[in-house]
Amino acid sequence: MIVFGIETTCDETSVSIVEKKKNNEFGDILVEETLSQIIKHKEFGGVVPELASREHSKNLDYLVKRSIKSSKINFNKIDAYAAATGPGLLGALLVGTNYAKALAVASNKPFISVNHLQGHVLISRMNKKINFPFLCLIVSGGHCQIILAHNERKFKIVGESVDDAVGEVFDKISNILGYGYPGGPIIEKLARRKKNKFTFNLPKPLLKDKTFNLSFSGLKTAVRRIIESGLEKDEKLDLAFQFQEVITICLLEKVKRALKYYKKKYNINDFVLSGGVASNLFIRESFEQMCTKEEITFFAPETKLCVDNASMIAWAGIEMLRNGKIESKINLSPKPRWRIDKL
Ligand code: KG4
Ligand code: ZN
Repeated sequence: MIVFGIETTCDETSVSIVEKKKNNEFGDILVEETLSQIIKHKEFGGVVPELASREHSKNLDYLVKRSIKSSKINFNKIDAYAAATGPGLLGALLVGTNYAKALAVASNKPFISVNHLQGHVLISRMNKKINFPFLCLIVSGGHCQIILAHNERKFKIVGESVDDAVGEVFDKISNILGYGYPGGPIIEKLARRKKNKFTFNLPKPLLKDKTFNLSFSGLKTAVRRIIESGLEKDEKLDLAFQFQEVITICLLEKVKRALKYYKKKYNINDFVLSGGVASNLFIRESFEQMCTKEEITFFAPETKLCVDNASMIAWAGIEMLRNGKIESKINLSPKPRWRIDKL
C-alpha cells in the first residue's frame, strides 16, 4: 500500500510517499521533501497567511516532481492521494487540497482528506507498536490539546488550552526578547545557559483547576511585563529557563491527571507527545520521567516528524485506507477550523 501525502496547512510545504508492506503493520517513508518558509516569514515575526499560500503555490509542483523522481515510484504504483484539509490557513489549505485532488482524479485513485492533528497523533504508530486507546498531547504553534485516540478516526479532546497554544507563546516571548521566530528552539537554547541567579514569580494558570484544560495567556503577559521592565543578559537566560519550566509543569500536571483518569477508565498504557514543541528536549525528558513514574509507556516521534511534515499525512491516509474507511468527496472544501473530534 503506497500513499502520497501533501501538507500545506501553515508554513511548511511538504510531500511524502509512505509505503506499508503487506505483512508489516509499520510504514516506511520512501521519500519526503519539505520546504520550510521560516526565512520568508521571519522578518514579520510570525506566519503571514497570504505569503504562505503564495509560497505553497510556487513550490508544491516542483516538490511533487522531485519526490516522484527521487523515489523512482511510478504514479501508477500509488494507491491514494492524501492531503491535510484542515485545520490551518484557508489559502494554504486550498493549495495542497486541490493539488492532491487533481492527482487523484488524473490517476483515478482515491483522494483522502486527513485532519492535520490526526496526522500528529497517528505518526508515532508508523514505526512503534502503540495500541488504541491511547492519550496524546499535541503541542504546536497552533494547538495545545490532550487527545484520547479511540481509533484512527475517532478522537476525543479531553483538555485543551482555553487561550494561546504553547508554541505561539514561545514565539511571542522570543519576539519580545528580540530573538525572533520561531521562538521555541531559541528559548530552549537560552534556557540551557541558565545562571540560577535570578528568580521570577511566574503564574501557573489553571494548575489547580479540576478540568484537563490549560491556559497560557496570563503567563505570556507576566513574562512580557518582566521583559519590558528591562533585563540584563543573565536575567534573560534565567527567565527563559523559568518560563520553559512553568510551561512544562502546567502541561505535566494536566496530562498526568488525564492519564490517571483514563488509565482507570480505559486501561490506557501508552502516551504520545507530538507537535513542534515536542522537539523540545527539556519537555520531552520531563514527560518521559513522568510516564516512567506513572507506569505508562512514553512515545514521541523523532524531531523531524514532530514538526509539520507530509509523512504524517500519508501515514494517516494509510491508517484509514487499510481499514477501508475512505469517503472523501472530490468536492470537499478545506476546513480552517476543523476539530479532531469532528472527523
Ligand atoms: O507542529 P508545528 O511545526 O506547526 C504547527 O502545526 O503549529 O509547530 C511549530 C511550533 C512553533 O511555535 C515553534 O516555536 C515550536 O513549534 N517549536 C518549539 C521547539 N521547536 C519548535 N517549541 C519549543 N521548543 C522547541 N525546541
Ligand atoms: Zn502541526
